[in-house]
Amino acid sequence: MSVTNLRAASTSEAARPVIEIRKVAKTYKTADGDVPSLRPLDITIHDGEFVVVVGQSGCGKTTLLKMIAGLLAPSEGEIRVEGHTITKPHGGVGIVFQSAMLLPWRRVLDNVMMPVEVKGLPQAEYRERALDLLKMVGLEGFEKKYPWQLSGGMQQRVSICRALVHDPKIVLMDEPFGALDAMTRERMNVELQRIQSETKKTILLITHSIPEAVFLADRVLVMTARPGAIDAVYPVPLKRPRSIDVLSDPVFIALTQKIRKHFSDAQTD
Ligand SMILES: Nc1ncnc2c1ncn2[C@@H]1O[C@H](COP(=O)(O)OP(=O)(O)O)[C@@H](O)[C@H]1O
Ligand SMILES: [Mg+2]
Repeated sequence: MSVTNLRAASTSEAARPVIEIRKVAKTYKTADGDVPSLRPLDITIHDGEFVVVVGQSGCGKTTLLKMIAGLLAPSEGEIRVEGHTITKPHGGVGIVFQSAMLLPWRRVLDNVMMPVEVKGLPQAEYRERALDLLKMVGLEGFEKKYPWQLSGGMQQRVSICRALVHDPKIVLMDEPFGALDAMTRERMNVELQRIQSETKKTILLITHSIPEAVFLADRVLVMTARPGAIDAVYPVPLKRPRSIDVLSDPVFIALTQKIRKHFSDAQTD
């Protein structure tokens, strides 16, 4: 059995499914008519898995993420998170958006504590956790700063801490590094991989960067153009931890080329 098959087998047999998407489709009803956004999808994501979705702009990636978070209802099908059918926003996930979306009048630590306040969790206990998380992402000493005193990369790290503070098992990330410069983005990719291996979270991340997808993922899901569907699934057979050197690994290069070709072929069809 190849390395690829071994990894695929171990994820599907050993780990518990935590996100189950069953025949989920979405059509937006607008004044100008229906906008079909997603064709029926089936996706299963297992405990501790890092799944990355790549697809062109407008293919329904954000729509998919919002439905998993319960912020949007599917037009068809069912989504289960930890075995529960999702019908409304729920606390079972942490979400990181493209921009950090910190509250400018709150200090770093107070921004991280937002979900704790909203959920009415014990402040003292979670304050320690928030401080540990800030330390983990290299922001020790910045707890009392305001967001505007931080660089874009630092702000995005704060938003990652905010998504993790209430200890959700699942983290959903929608193009979290899209607004960062290339070098900061590489550093954030290495850091996110480390956070995932330390915290054992299940992560679903959306990006339109193919190298980012291959660097981070256990599996890359490639979507078709709108209305989106899953076009292909690529397991990533690169061992972890992956350093930035992996970018020049022949396996990495071959896989990014294969996925890139997927998009160029689809455009010429
Ligand atoms: N609230 C909405 N009403 C109508 N159409 C929408 C709405 N939100 C998104 N869409 C449309 O659905 C499609 C998918 O959007 P989105 O999920 O944001 O794509 P992506 O995140 O992949 O760029 C797009 O064509 C977009 O214009
Ligand atoms: Mg989007």
